[in-house]
Amino acid sequence: MAAVAFVCRRPGSVLPRISKAGSPAVLSAVPATVQQRKVHHSVIPRGKGGRSSVSGISATVFGATGYLGRYVVNHLGRMGSQVIVPHRCDQYDIMYLRPMGDLGQIIFLDWDARNRETIQRAMAHSNVVINLVGREWETSNYSFQDIYENIPREIARAAREAGVTKFIHMSHLNADIRSPSRYLRNKAVGERVVRDEFPDAVIMKPAEMFGREDRFFNHFANMRWFGRAVPLIALGKETVKQPVYVVDVSKAIVNAIKDPESNGKTYALVGPHRYLLHDLVEYLYAVAHRPFVPYPVPRPLYHMAARFFELNPFEPWTTRDKIDRLHTTDMKYPGLPGLEDLGIVPSSVEMKAIEVLRRHRRFRWLEAELGETKPAKTVDI
Ligand SMILES: NC(=O)c1ccc[n+]([C@@H]2O[C@H](COP(=O)([O-])OP(=O)(O)OC[C@H]3O[C@@H](n4cnc5c(N)ncnc54)[C@H](OP(=O)(O)O)[C@@H]3O)[C@@H](O)[C@H]2O)c1
Repeated sequence: MAAVAFVCRRPGSVLPRISKAGSPAVLSAVPATVQQRKVHHSVIPRGKGGRSSVSGISATVFGATGYLGRYVVNHLGRMGSQVIVPHRCDQYDIMYLRPMGDLGQIIFLDWDARNRETIQRAMAHSNVVINLVGREWETSNYSFQDIYENIPREIARAAREAGVTKFIHMSHLNADIRSPSRYLRNKAVGERVVRDEFPDAVIMKPAEMFGREDRFFNHFANMRWFGRAVPLIALGKETVKQPVYVVDVSKAIVNAIKDPESNGKTYALVGPHRYLLHDLVEYLYAVAHRPFVPYPVPRPLYHMAARFFELNPFEPWTTRDKIDRLHTTDMKYPGLPGLEDLGIVPSSVEMKAIEVLRRHRRFRWLEAELGETKPAKTVDI
Protein backbone atom coordinates (compact mmCIF):
# COMPACT_ATOMS: atom_id res chain seq x y z
CA MET A 1 0.00 0.00 0.00
CA ALA A 2 1.28 3.44 -0.83
CA ALA A 3 2.50 5.75 1.87
CA VAL A 4 0.88 9.13 1.56
CA ALA A 5 2.03 11.25 4.48
CA PHE A 6 5.29 12.27 6.07
CA VAL A 7 6.21 12.74 9.69
CA CYS A 8 8.79 15.25 10.79
CA ARG A 9 11.98 13.66 12.15
CA ARG A 10 13.73 16.82 13.32
CA PRO A 11 15.38 16.35 16.74
CA GLY A 12 12.86 17.39 19.40
CA SER A 13 9.96 17.14 16.99
CA VAL A 14 6.68 15.85 18.32
CA LEU A 15 3.68 13.82 17.35
CA PRO A 16 0.54 15.55 16.16
CA ARG A 17 -1.05 17.02 19.28
CA ILE A 18 -4.02 15.03 20.51
CA SER A 19 -6.63 16.90 22.52
CA LYS A 20 -7.32 15.93 26.16
CA ALA A 21 -10.62 14.36 25.17
CA GLY A 22 -8.68 11.99 22.98
CA SER A 23 -9.88 13.41 19.67
CA PRO A 24 -7.10 13.91 17.16
CA ALA A 25 -6.26 17.44 16.20
CA VAL A 26 -5.41 18.33 12.64
CA LEU A 27 -2.23 17.08 11.08
CA SER A 28 -1.16 20.65 10.38
CA ALA A 29 0.01 20.67 14.02
CA VAL A 30 3.04 18.73 12.81
CA PRO A 31 5.87 21.07 11.87
CA ALA A 32 6.52 20.51 8.17
CA THR A 33 10.29 20.71 8.19
CA VAL A 34 12.73 17.88 7.52
CA GLN A 35 10.82 14.91 6.20
CA GLN A 36 12.85 11.78 6.36
CA ARG A 37 10.47 8.90 6.70
CA LYS A 38 7.25 7.89 5.10
CA VAL A 39 4.44 6.82 7.35
CA HIS A 40 1.36 4.95 6.41
CA HIS A 41 -1.92 6.86 5.89
CA SER A 42 -3.31 4.85 8.77
CA VAL A 43 -1.55 7.20 11.20
CA ILE A 44 -3.04 10.43 9.90
CA PRO A 45 -5.32 11.51 12.75
CA ARG A 46 -8.99 11.53 11.88
CA GLY A 47 -12.37 10.86 13.45
CA LYS A 48 -13.85 12.03 16.74
CA GLY A 49 -11.60 10.06 19.04
CA GLY A 50 -12.47 6.61 20.31
CA ARG A 51 -11.79 3.12 19.16
CA SER A 52 -12.80 3.48 15.51
CA SER A 53 -11.09 6.79 14.83
CA VAL A 54 -7.38 7.24 14.15
CA SER A 55 -5.37 8.82 16.94
CA GLY A 56 -2.25 9.37 14.86
CA ILE A 57 -0.32 7.02 17.11
CA SER A 58 1.28 3.89 15.82
CA ALA A 59 3.00 2.41 18.84
CA THR A 60 5.29 -0.56 19.25
CA VAL A 61 4.94 -1.84 22.80
CA PHE A 62 7.80 -4.14 23.81
CA GLY A 63 6.65 -6.12 26.86
CA ALA A 64 2.98 -5.69 25.91
CA THR A 65 2.26 -9.25 27.01
CA GLY A 66 3.06 -8.42 30.64
CA TYR A 67 1.05 -7.00 33.52
CA LEU A 68 1.30 -3.28 32.67
CA GLY A 69 1.38 -4.01 28.93
CA ARG A 70 -2.26 -5.09 28.71
CA TYR A 71 -3.41 -1.79 30.26
CA VAL A 72 -1.25 0.24 27.89
CA VAL A 73 -2.47 -1.68 24.81
CA ASN A 74 -6.05 -1.23 26.00
CA HIS A 75 -5.66 2.53 26.52
CA LEU A 76 -3.97 2.99 23.17
CA GLY A 77 -6.41 0.73 21.33
CA ARG A 78 -9.52 2.40 22.61
CA MET A 79 -8.43 5.83 21.40
CA GLY A 80 -7.90 4.51 17.90
CA SER A 81 -4.18 3.77 17.84
CA GLN A 82 -2.37 1.11 15.95
CA VAL A 83 -0.43 -1.09 18.37
CA ILE A 84 2.36 -3.43 17.35
CA VAL A 85 2.83 -6.18 19.91
CA PRO A 86 6.19 -7.93 19.62
CA HIS A 87 5.88 -11.29 21.33
CA ARG A 88 7.89 -14.43 21.87
CA CYS A 89 5.05 -16.70 22.93
CA ASP A 90 2.37 -18.42 20.90
CA GLN A 91 0.00 -15.89 19.30
CA TYR A 92 -2.97 -17.75 20.73
CA ASP A 93 -1.71 -17.08 24.27
CA ILE A 94 -2.14 -13.34 23.77
CA MET A 95 -5.40 -13.30 21.84
CA TYR A 96 -6.96 -11.39 24.76
CA LEU A 97 -5.11 -8.32 23.43
CA ARG A 98 -6.80 -8.46 20.01
CA PRO A 99 -10.21 -7.04 20.94
CA MET A 100 -8.55 -4.09 22.70
CA GLY A 101 -8.35 -2.20 19.42
CA ASP A 102 -10.36 -1.86 16.24
CA LEU A 103 -10.19 -4.52 13.55
CA GLY A 104 -6.62 -4.90 12.30
CA GLN A 105 -5.21 -2.30 14.68
CA ILE A 106 -3.52 -4.70 17.10
CA ILE A 107 -0.72 -6.36 15.21
CA PHE A 108 1.32 -9.28 16.53
CA LEU A 109 4.94 -9.72 15.44
CA ASP A 110 7.53 -12.27 16.57
CA TRP A 111 10.64 -10.82 18.12
CA ASP A 112 13.81 -11.97 19.77
CA ALA A 113 15.46 -9.50 22.11
CA ARG A 114 18.89 -10.63 20.87
CA ASN A 115 18.05 -10.19 17.21
CA ARG A 116 18.43 -6.58 16.14
CA GLU A 117 16.57 -7.14 12.89
CA THR A 118 13.41 -8.22 14.68
CA ILE A 119 13.60 -5.12 16.88
CA GLN A 120 13.97 -2.89 13.83
CA ARG A 121 11.16 -4.67 12.01
CA ALA A 122 8.83 -4.22 14.97
CA MET A 123 9.22 -0.45 14.91
CA ALA A 124 9.61 0.10 11.16
CA HIS A 125 6.21 1.81 10.83
CA SER A 126 5.79 3.27 14.30
CA ASN A 127 6.11 6.80 15.57
CA VAL A 128 6.00 5.74 19.23
CA VAL A 129 8.04 3.03 20.95
CA ILE A 130 7.38 1.92 24.52
CA ASN A 131 9.71 -0.38 26.43
CA LEU A 132 7.96 -2.36 29.18
CA VAL A 133 10.29 -5.36 29.09
CA GLY A 134 10.97 -6.64 32.57
CA ARG A 135 11.34 -9.73 34.72
CA GLU A 136 11.38 -10.09 38.49
CA TRP A 137 13.89 -12.92 38.48
CA GLU A 138 16.94 -13.90 36.46
CA THR A 139 16.88 -16.95 34.21
CA SER A 140 19.69 -18.97 32.69
CA ASN A 141 19.06 -17.13 29.40
CA TYR A 142 18.53 -13.57 30.61
CA SER A 143 20.20 -11.84 33.54
CA PHE A 144 18.96 -8.56 35.01
CA GLN A 145 21.77 -6.92 33.07
CA ASP A 146 20.31 -8.27 29.82
CA ILE A 147 16.76 -7.25 30.69
CA TYR A 148 17.37 -3.82 32.15
CA GLU A 149 20.50 -2.64 30.34
CA ASN A 150 21.22 -4.52 27.12
CA ILE A 151 17.68 -4.87 25.78
CA PRO A 152 16.74 -1.22 26.55
CA ARG A 153 19.99 -0.11 24.90
CA GLU A 154 19.17 -2.05 21.73
CA ILE A 155 15.57 -0.82 21.65
CA ALA A 156 16.57 2.82 22.30
CA ARG A 157 19.28 2.67 19.64
CA ALA A 158 16.96 1.11 17.08
CA ALA A 159 14.30 3.72 17.91
CA ARG A 160 16.77 6.58 17.38
CA GLU A 161 18.03 5.09 14.13
CA ALA A 162 14.46 4.57 12.91
CA GLY A 163 13.66 8.22 13.61
CA VAL A 164 10.96 7.42 16.14
CA THR A 165 9.51 10.60 17.69
CA LYS A 166 8.56 9.34 21.12
CA PHE A 167 10.36 6.73 23.14
CA ILE A 168 9.02 5.78 26.56
CA HIS A 169 11.14 3.69 28.88
CA MET A 170 9.89 2.06 32.08
CA SER A 171 12.30 2.22 34.97
CA HIS A 172 11.59 1.95 38.72
CA LEU A 173 11.15 4.56 41.44
CA ASN A 174 13.92 3.02 43.54
CA ALA A 175 16.40 2.46 40.70
CA ASP A 176 19.68 3.16 42.40
CA ILE A 177 23.20 2.02 41.79
CA ARG A 178 23.70 1.53 45.58
CA SER A 179 20.55 -0.54 46.08
CA PRO A 180 20.88 -3.99 47.70
CA SER A 181 18.66 -5.27 44.86
CA ARG A 182 20.42 -6.18 41.62
CA TYR A 183 17.15 -5.51 39.73
CA LEU A 184 17.20 -1.92 40.99
CA ARG A 185 20.93 -1.43 40.35
CA ASN A 186 20.50 -2.56 36.75
CA LYS A 187 17.43 -0.35 36.37
CA ALA A 188 19.60 2.63 37.36
CA VAL A 189 22.20 1.78 34.72
CA GLY A 190 19.36 1.17 32.25
CA GLU A 191 18.10 4.75 32.70
CA ARG A 192 21.57 6.04 31.85
CA VAL A 193 22.06 3.92 28.75
CA VAL A 194 18.63 4.87 27.46
CA ARG A 195 19.37 8.59 27.96
CA ASP A 196 22.71 8.17 26.14
CA GLU A 197 21.12 6.38 23.19
CA PHE A 198 17.93 8.44 22.99
CA PRO A 199 18.33 11.78 24.81
CA ASP A 200 14.67 12.71 24.25
CA ALA A 201 13.39 9.51 25.86
CA VAL A 202 10.63 9.83 28.45
CA ILE A 203 11.67 7.82 31.50
CA MET A 204 8.92 6.66 33.85
CA LYS A 205 9.81 5.69 37.42
CA PRO A 206 6.77 4.05 38.99
CA ALA A 207 6.68 2.79 42.56
CA GLU A 208 5.44 -0.78 43.04
CA MET A 209 2.19 -0.98 41.07
CA PHE A 210 -1.01 -2.49 42.44
CA GLY A 211 -3.87 -3.82 40.35
CA ARG A 212 -5.74 -7.06 39.73
CA GLU A 213 -2.81 -9.02 38.32
CA ASP A 214 -0.12 -7.42 40.50
CA ARG A 215 2.77 -9.17 42.20
CA PHE A 216 2.64 -6.87 45.21
CA PHE A 217 -0.72 -6.92 47.02
CA ASN A 218 -1.43 -10.43 45.69
CA HIS A 219 2.01 -11.54 46.88
CA PHE A 220 1.37 -10.43 50.46
CA ALA A 221 -2.22 -11.68 50.43
CA ASN A 222 -1.01 -15.11 49.25
CA MET A 223 1.40 -15.39 52.17
CA ARG A 224 -1.51 -16.85 54.13
CA TRP A 225 -0.75 -20.10 52.27
CA PHE A 226 2.32 -20.47 54.44
CA GLY A 227 0.85 -20.97 57.88
CA ARG A 228 -1.31 -17.83 57.88
CA ALA A 229 1.56 -15.69 59.10
CA VAL A 230 3.28 -12.91 57.19
CA PRO A 231 7.07 -12.69 57.45
CA LEU A 232 8.32 -9.10 57.33
CA ILE A 233 11.84 -7.81 57.90
CA ALA A 234 11.77 -5.72 61.12
CA LEU A 235 8.00 -6.33 61.09
CA GLY A 236 7.78 -3.97 58.11
CA LYS A 237 8.20 -0.99 60.44
CA GLU A 238 11.37 0.27 58.80
CA THR A 239 10.08 0.28 55.23
CA VAL A 240 7.89 2.99 53.74
CA LYS A 241 5.88 2.32 50.57
CA GLN A 242 3.93 4.62 48.28
CA PRO A 243 2.24 2.22 45.82
CA VAL A 244 0.74 3.48 42.59
CA TYR A 245 -2.33 2.17 40.76
CA VAL A 246 -1.46 0.38 37.50
CA VAL A 247 -4.22 2.17 35.55
CA ASP A 248 -2.73 5.55 36.55
CA VAL A 249 0.66 4.46 35.24
CA SER A 250 -0.86 3.34 31.96
CA LYS A 251 -2.72 6.66 31.61
CA ALA A 252 0.53 8.48 32.37
CA ILE A 253 2.19 6.69 29.45
CA VAL A 254 -0.61 7.66 27.08
CA ASN A 255 -0.68 11.27 28.29
CA ALA A 256 3.10 11.51 27.94
CA ILE A 257 2.71 10.40 24.32
CA LYS A 258 0.17 13.16 23.73
CA ASP A 259 2.22 15.81 25.51
CA PRO A 260 5.01 17.25 23.35
CA GLU A 261 6.56 18.82 26.47
CA SER A 262 7.29 15.42 27.99
CA ASN A 263 10.22 14.64 25.70
CA GLY A 264 13.48 14.23 27.60
CA LYS A 265 11.79 14.25 31.02
CA THR A 266 11.88 11.74 33.84
CA TYR A 267 8.64 11.19 35.78
CA ALA A 268 8.31 9.76 39.30
CA LEU A 269 4.94 7.99 39.46
CA VAL A 270 3.66 7.38 42.97
CA GLY A 271 0.36 7.02 44.77
CA PRO A 272 -1.06 9.80 46.96
CA HIS A 273 -0.05 8.31 50.37
CA ARG A 274 2.97 6.78 52.05
CA TYR A 275 2.55 3.87 54.46
CA LEU A 276 4.74 1.74 56.69
CA LEU A 277 4.89 -1.67 55.01
CA HIS A 278 3.47 -3.17 58.23
CA ASP A 279 0.40 -0.90 58.17
CA LEU A 280 -0.11 -1.43 54.46
CA VAL A 281 -0.09 -5.23 54.74
CA GLU A 282 -2.32 -5.04 57.82
CA TYR A 283 -4.81 -3.03 55.74
CA LEU A 284 -4.64 -5.57 52.90
CA TYR A 285 -5.54 -8.36 55.31
CA ALA A 286 -8.35 -6.27 56.83
CA VAL A 287 -9.87 -5.73 53.36
CA ALA A 288 -9.50 -9.44 52.61
CA HIS A 289 -11.19 -10.25 55.95
CA ARG A 290 -8.27 -12.45 56.95
CA PRO A 291 -6.42 -12.47 60.27
CA PHE A 292 -3.12 -10.60 60.05
CA VAL A 293 -0.33 -12.35 61.95
CA PRO A 294 2.99 -10.67 61.14
CA TYR A 295 6.27 -11.98 62.48
CA PRO A 296 9.73 -10.45 62.23
CA VAL A 297 12.35 -12.32 60.19
CA PRO A 298 16.01 -11.42 59.99
CA ARG A 299 17.05 -10.68 56.41
CA PRO A 300 19.61 -13.59 56.18
CA LEU A 301 16.99 -16.09 57.29
CA TYR A 302 14.46 -14.71 54.80
CA HIS A 303 17.12 -14.96 52.08
CA MET A 304 17.75 -18.57 53.02
CA ALA A 305 14.07 -19.39 52.57
CA ALA A 306 14.05 -17.51 49.25
CA ARG A 307 16.89 -19.70 47.96
CA PHE A 308 14.51 -22.62 48.18
CA PHE A 309 11.94 -20.85 45.99
CA GLU A 310 14.68 -19.81 43.55
CA LEU A 311 15.16 -23.48 42.68
CA ASN A 312 11.89 -23.24 40.74
CA PRO A 313 12.98 -22.91 37.09
CA PHE A 314 9.66 -21.37 36.02
CA GLU A 315 8.24 -18.60 38.17
CA PRO A 316 9.77 -18.50 41.63
CA TRP A 317 7.24 -17.32 44.22
CA THR A 318 9.87 -15.09 45.75
CA THR A 319 13.60 -14.44 45.40
CA ARG A 320 16.28 -12.80 47.54
CA ASP A 321 16.17 -9.87 45.16
CA LYS A 322 12.41 -9.48 45.48
CA ILE A 323 12.64 -9.53 49.27
CA ASP A 324 15.21 -6.72 49.14
CA ARG A 325 13.12 -4.75 46.65
CA LEU A 326 9.91 -5.04 48.63
CA HIS A 327 11.74 -3.98 51.79
CA THR A 328 13.30 -0.90 50.16
CA THR A 329 11.80 2.41 51.26
CA ASP A 330 10.31 4.32 48.33
CA MET A 331 12.41 7.31 47.38
CA LYS A 332 11.04 10.83 47.23
CA TYR A 333 11.76 12.94 44.18
CA PRO A 334 10.40 16.41 44.89
CA GLY A 335 12.21 17.77 41.83
CA LEU A 336 10.69 15.37 39.31
CA PRO A 337 7.30 15.79 37.64
CA GLY A 338 4.69 13.18 38.52
CA LEU A 339 1.21 11.96 37.70
CA GLU A 340 -0.38 15.37 38.36
CA ASP A 341 1.89 16.94 35.75
CA LEU A 342 0.41 14.53 33.23
CA GLY A 343 -3.12 15.49 34.24
CA ILE A 344 -3.82 12.43 36.40
CA VAL A 345 -5.23 12.43 39.92
CA PRO A 346 -3.53 9.46 41.63
CA SER A 347 -5.91 6.81 42.97
CA SER A 348 -5.49 5.83 46.59
CA VAL A 349 -4.98 2.33 47.93
CA GLU A 350 -8.21 2.70 49.92
CA MET A 351 -10.17 3.33 46.72
CA LYS A 352 -8.77 0.52 44.60
CA ALA A 353 -7.38 -2.23 46.87
CA ILE A 354 -10.74 -3.99 46.95
CA GLU A 355 -10.37 -4.73 43.20
CA VAL A 356 -7.29 -6.79 43.96
CA LEU A 357 -8.33 -8.25 47.26
CA ARG A 358 -11.92 -9.30 46.80
CA ARG A 359 -10.76 -12.64 45.42
CA HIS A 360 -8.71 -13.25 48.58
CA ARG A 361 -11.80 -13.02 50.77
CA ARG A 362 -13.59 -16.02 52.13
CA PHE A 363 -16.79 -16.63 50.21
CA ARG A 364 -19.04 -15.38 52.99
CA TRP A 365 -17.27 -12.02 52.96
CA LEU A 366 -17.24 -11.66 49.19
CA GLU A 367 -19.86 -8.93 49.04
CA ALA A 368 -19.06 -7.31 52.39
CA GLU A 369 -18.82 -3.53 52.28
CA LEU A 370 -15.49 -1.79 52.68
CA GLY A 371 -17.03 0.66 55.18
CA GLU A 372 -15.89 -1.01 58.39
CA THR A 373 -12.26 -1.41 57.33
CA LYS A 374 -10.16 1.30 58.93
CA PRO A 375 -7.90 3.00 56.35
CA ALA A 376 -4.18 2.35 56.81
CA LYS A 377 -2.22 4.97 58.78
CA THR A 378 -0.22 7.21 56.46
CA VAL A 379 3.27 8.51 57.26
CA ASP A 380 5.33 11.42 56.01
CA ILE A 381 8.83 9.96 56.08
N1 LIG B 1 5.16 -4.44 38.30
C1 LIG B 1 5.56 -3.43 39.04
O1 LIG B 1 5.08 -3.20 40.15
C2 LIG B 1 6.62 -2.50 38.50
C3 LIG B 1 7.03 -1.41 39.29
C4 LIG B 1 7.98 -0.54 38.77
C5 LIG B 1 8.51 -0.74 37.52
N2 LIG B 1 8.10 -1.82 36.77
C6 LIG B 1 8.67 -2.00 35.44
O2 LIG B 1 7.65 -1.81 34.48
C7 LIG B 1 7.88 -2.68 33.36
C8 LIG B 1 6.65 -3.54 33.11
O3 LIG B 1 6.39 -4.26 34.29
P1 LIG B 1 5.39 -5.50 34.32
O4 LIG B 1 5.06 -5.74 35.75
O5 LIG B 1 4.32 -5.29 33.32
O6 LIG B 1 6.35 -6.67 33.81
P2 LIG B 1 5.94 -8.19 33.46
O7 LIG B 1 4.53 -8.47 33.79
O8 LIG B 1 6.97 -9.04 34.09
O9 LIG B 1 6.07 -8.22 31.87
C9 LIG B 1 7.29 -8.14 31.33
C10 LIG B 1 7.22 -8.20 29.82
O10 LIG B 1 8.57 -8.27 29.36
C11 LIG B 1 8.69 -9.37 28.48
N3 LIG B 1 10.02 -9.98 28.58
C12 LIG B 1 10.65 -10.32 29.73
N4 LIG B 1 11.85 -10.88 29.42
C13 LIG B 1 11.94 -10.87 28.08
C14 LIG B 1 12.93 -11.30 27.18
N5 LIG B 1 14.07 -11.86 27.59
N6 LIG B 1 12.70 -11.16 25.84
C15 LIG B 1 11.55 -10.61 25.41
N7 LIG B 1 10.56 -10.17 26.21
C16 LIG B 1 10.77 -10.31 27.54
C17 LIG B 1 7.63 -10.34 28.89
O11 LIG B 1 7.35 -11.18 27.78
P3 LIG B 1 6.85 -12.70 27.99
O12 LIG B 1 5.38 -12.57 28.26
O13 LIG B 1 7.18 -13.36 26.70
O14 LIG B 1 7.62 -13.25 29.15
C18 LIG B 1 6.49 -9.41 29.26
O15 LIG B 1 5.80 -9.03 28.11
C19 LIG B 1 9.12 -3.51 33.71
O16 LIG B 1 10.25 -2.89 33.14
C20 LIG B 1 9.19 -3.40 35.21
O17 LIG B 1 10.51 -3.55 35.67
C21 LIG B 1 7.17 -2.70 37.22
